[in-house]
Amino acid sequence: MKTILVLNSSVMQGDSVSNILVEEAVAGLLEKYPEAEVIRHDLGTNPIPHLDSANVAGVRGVPKTETEIATRALSDKLIAELRSADTLVIGAPMYNFSIPTGLRSWFDYVLRAGETFQYTEQGPQGLLDNKQVILIESRGGLYSEGPAQAMDFQEPYLRTLFGFIGLKNINFVHAEKIGFGPEARQAALAEAKERIATLS
Ligand SMILES: Cc1cc2nc3c(=O)[nH]c(=O)nc-3n(C[C@H](O)[C@H](O)[C@H](O)COP(=O)(O)O)c2cc1C
Repeated sequence: MKTILVLNSSVMQGDSVSNILVEEAVAGLLEKYPEAEVIRHDLGTNPIPHLDSANVAGVRGVPKTETEIATRALSDKLIAELRSADTLVIGAPMYNFSIPTGLRSWFDYVLRAGETFQYTEQGPQGLLDNKQVILIESRGGLYSEGPAQAMDFQEPYLRTLFGFIGLKNINFVHAEKIGFGPEARQAALAEAKERIATLS
């Protein structure tokens, strides 16, 4: 059976551009694979705890305290979900030229040496089997071309993070110029939905 892992990370809840487009992609996938299991996390409204000095040994070190042991259990669970997924649908708005901290925190839990990547004599190697990744990037401005392109630390960063664990087959979907008024927002949504229809 197909498994779809869905991660939302906008803090804007229902009205969010990335949330709308994530639902569009999931609906398309479910039309094609009605039996699919869908695992969901809304990292914007229900964030996983950021790493701090009390819990970091749960992902990097030997967990000893109750907090560290709980952190390790959460990391193991998130990695198991990731491994089990055939397709990932990720909503990743641009926040301060990069990604929301909720999504960043998820990466802190799933990038674990020996689990999702390993160090070899040839350098780091991703350990996950390739998967389809549908990555929705909503942005207030225009970054896919023009003068702001150099400030796009969102897409290269996401490409690096997923590539590091072995996921190189990424379908980026852009919804740009969201801050340019209602018409621009509608146009961006329509264009992104057309692209999603070619993917799911
Ligand atoms: C905290 C915050 C930071 C943002 N930073 C940027 C930015 O650096 N560049 C940009 O073009 N838009 C930025 N935006 C605008 C969002 O990218 C835009 O509103 C997008 O639609 C957000 O996706 P969402 O509707 O799914 O939440 C920011 C929005 C927020 C809330």
